[in-house]
Amino acid sequence: MFTKSLPKIMYGGDYNPEQWPREIWDEDMRLFQLAGVDIVTLNVFSWALNQPDEHTYCFEWLDEMMDRLHEQGIKVCLGTSTAAHPAWMATRYPDVTLVEHDGRKRKFGRRHNSCPNSPTFRLYSERMARKLAERYKDHPALLLWHVNNEYGLRCYCNNCEKAFRVWLRNRYGTLEKLNSAWYTRFWGHTFYDWNEIVLPSALSEHMSSSSPDATAFQGISLDYDRFNSDAILSCYKLERDAIKSVMPNAVVTTNFQSNGTYKPLDYFKWAKELDVIALDMYPADDMTPGRMAMRYDLMRGLKGGDPFMLMESCPTQLNWRPRNAVKRPGVNRLWSYHAVARGADAVMYFQLRRSLGAFEKFHGAMIDHAGHEHTRVFRECAQIGKELRKLNDSLLGARSPARAAIVFDWENWWAIEHSSGLTVDLRYVAEIEKYYEAFYSRNIPVDMIGVETDLEGYDIVVAPVLYMVHPGYAARLETFVERGGTLVSTTFSGIVNENDLVTPGGYPGELRELLGVWVEEIDAPMEHQRNRVMMSGPLGELDGSYDCGVLCDVVHVEGAEAFAVFERDFYQGFPALTRNRRGSGEAWYVATSPEQAMLSGLIGHLCESRGIRPVLATPAGVEAAVRVSDSQSYLFLLNHTEADAEVQLGSDSGAYIDLLSGESHEGSLSLQAQDVRILTRVDSPSNLMEELNQWKTMQETRR
Ligand code: GLA
Ligand code: ZN
Repeated sequence: MFTKSLPKIMYGGDYNPEQWPREIWDEDMRLFQLAGVDIVTLNVFSWALNQPDEHTYCFEWLDEMMDRLHEQGIKVCLGTSTAAHPAWMATRYPDVTLVEHDGRKRKFGRRHNSCPNSPTFRLYSERMARKLAERYKDHPALLLWHVNNEYGLRCYCNNCEKAFRVWLRNRYGTLEKLNSAWYTRFWGHTFYDWNEIVLPSALSEHMSSSSPDATAFQGISLDYDRFNSDAILSCYKLERDAIKSVMPNAVVTTNFQSNGTYKPLDYFKWAKELDVIALDMYPADDMTPGRMAMRYDLMRGLKGGDPFMLMESCPTQLNWRPRNAVKRPGVNRLWSYHAVARGADAVMYFQLRRSLGAFEKFHGAMIDHAGHEHTRVFRECAQIGKELRKLNDSLLGARSPARAAIVFDWENWWAIEHSSGLTVDLRYVAEIEKYYEAFYSRNIPVDMIGVETDLEGYDIVVAPVLYMVHPGYAARLETFVERGGTLVSTTFSGIVNENDLVTPGGYPGELRELLGVWVEEIDAPMEHQRNRVMMSGPLGELDGSYDCGVLCDVVHVEGAEAFAVFERDFYQGFPALTRNRRGSGEAWYVATSPEQAMLSGLIGHLCESRGIRPVLATPAGVEAAVRVSDSQSYLFLLNHTEADAEVQLGSDSGAYIDLLSGESHEGSLSLQAQDVRILTRVDSPSNLMEELNQWKTMQETRR
């Protein structure tokens, strides 16, 4: 695990010295020291500078900067500079620019602008990575590699179209198989020649020029998503392999975008190719702490629980939202520790110095346009830098054990949202977030896992809207339940196979027997038809009735027992929540998308019956999370509210030391608005510690 080898929790961020004269470089070195910066990401957008023409490479500026940083004891996360191609390349080799979903061929401009199947881009980006590796492989400042930047996009050019056909041949072998997987007898789409297949775009299968979601043929659009994620991944692999061919022990990563839930790239697949996960986190203004926590947990889940790097975050305001409020005092600190609490072993910003021109001139930075350290934002950054020095290496590599897991699957996400029907209100990530919140709001750790993750060792697995069931997955869920696991499944599950073809014989298809229910109809009620789920009797905290909507299934039990029914409409009295016992476990079915309170009650009840206790009971808005290292357990308390809070540590819990302030606490503590504690126990291991160690062993065996 890479982060375990770090000297401490790394602190710094993106630095763009190529935008600045030498005097400013000197000043930056002074300011970095003041702020406690020990890592910078360099060379992310300097391709045009590094390669002024086809044959010339000039890295002198980078040599000088690398040396200067080394003198300061600052490590470098070295970009490969390929995230924006040079203008000369686009002029001379137009294949590098993209073709958009609506068929428009782009000219030179912006960034993240290269076609993944452009021979020119592939040739020159690979060459650039190799040259950089040859030049800096022995540089003492080099810590890790940052390939490209926030990979993404969809391209619809002729090169991509040709590559798509090759990809399809590899997947299907014959056109007969492809025709049946895509259901091409519908609307007379049968293909007789591979060259008849065109990319699914606004010019072909897609229903709108703006949305890559709405398609007439889910099969081809789903395969395009898989293909495109793979194609872009192959660009990453080209550069990575070039680096590793020169430097076999290089640590290589690329930064994941959109807070980790970036739809076009299957990050579980990508994660296998990265040495460490790196996340860019820019929470929207309405993003709750729980939704942020879910994304951090997902990043941890990508590599079986390994910690990750917070590669980018913003110390204050952004520039690219319609309105960009500054981060209020304390918020940057709170959010930085939030990431650490949930598995980050590096806290990094975009950016260290605020640009003077172009798109990001108003993007917040550690060093503002004023240019000195006497600003609120700099002072707050410096405080974090100081504290992270104090924490030193204590948290590195510490994991976050959990006995429950939520399944997250990119292909399922694509398939659900490509489908015409049943409702545009069903948003995959939003449904996941509701179940996550049910754990989060109780401070119960939950892993975010992929469909390849081993289920062994979990007590509870929640698979919200498991619309697509991959080959063999139903059997794995069955084994999990038979061996004593608790499975929670929901409406719109077991509907299709991996080609988005409906499993005939009644919903929920392959999961029908395991869940012991048959869903005869799936209603997508209008807003005025919203229903309610009425509990048949109390179940833990659950009692009375709960609002529900989006989808409501008309369910017949086939061996399962109903715990709640729909309150209205023609399916009044039909089951809305069921449990089927199988082997020594049980499989629950939630036949709708109920309000949060019902899910929280249900998850609370299931955790309680499995003996899964919260990390700590805290007042609302105060998060408690645990990380466990080989020798120590760390309890994070984060007050996400704007009011002070009193937290009970438990009467027999013994004394804690706060690693940030050095203060000791026993029994209870008060936590100011937006403040943080990182507590370790002073005394010998208690029950909690033992329990955590058990979890840790389980987690290790699962890896
Ligand atoms: C992304 C990019 C950065 C920068 C930030 C601004 O995360 O990776 O280069 O543009 O956005 O928020
Ligand atoms: Zn292309």
